[in-house]
Amino acid sequence: MDLTFRRFAPSEADALVDFLTGDTWPFHASAAPEVDEVRRWISEGRYDGEENRAFWIVAGDGTAGLIRLMDLADDTPLFDLRVRSRWRGTGIGGAALTWLTRYLFEEFPRVRRIEGTTRQDNAAMRRAFRRCGYVKEAHYRDAWPGTGGSVHDAVGYAVLRRDWESGGVTVPEWDDEHMITERVRPE
Ligand SMILES: CC(C)(COP(=O)(O)OP(=O)(O)OC[C@H]1O[C@@H](n2cnc3c(N)ncnc32)[C@H](O)[C@@H]1OP(=O)(O)O)[C@@H](O)C(=O)NCCC(=O)NCCS
Repeated sequence: MDLTFRRFAPSEADALVDFLTGDTWPFHASAAPEVDEVRRWISEGRYDGEENRAFWIVAGDGTAGLIRLMDLADDTPLFDLRVRSRWRGTGIGGAALTWLTRYLFEEFPRVRRIEGTTRQDNAAMRRAFRRCGYVKEAHYRDAWPGTGGSVHDAVGYAVLRRDWESGGVTVPEWDDEHMITERVRPE
């Protein structure tokens, strides 16, 4: 599929409101955002500012999704990725994740790692993470608010610049309790 990524401009606020309110986002805390809520997010600079940028995912001549990059002044930025329902499951999410990973590492030389968190049962997002070299680093129990007061576990993934450059995968050192079983005396 022919995809292009075009930076969101503040003059496109109405289109962004239509995009976010015209679909449902079952894995987001706000699954069906209201117009006022989205206008507030835009006015807070969440999509364009010192630390945030957004990009439309364009498929042919249609808008298929949106990437939001956050914490761009930090050495570990975060992102949000949304594909319109009728386009989901067609490879766009994986392609967008590959694109944003390259964009962040090339545009911001200071960035050492990129993090993303999602709901435990968001299989498509988790598979996209895995396909694009992200590794599960964290599991947060009861951390993700759902509808009607429910809560879900959340999972955190990240990709390291050095892995992205080498094509390798550095696995977290999970089995490290041995480091705290004996008191270590500084030399
Ligand atoms: C999550 C999301 C971005 C993934 O993008 P997508 O275009 O639907 O996913 P892709 O078609 O690129 O598929 C990615 C992987 O998930 C798999 N997949 C796709 N839909 C799936 C589904 N419903 N259930 C299980 N696996 C699925 C694909 O087979 C692929 O796996 P593979 O790489 O091992 O072959 C998209 O579904 C979306 O926007 N969902 C709603 C918003 C959201 O949840 N965003 C994430 C917020 S953290």
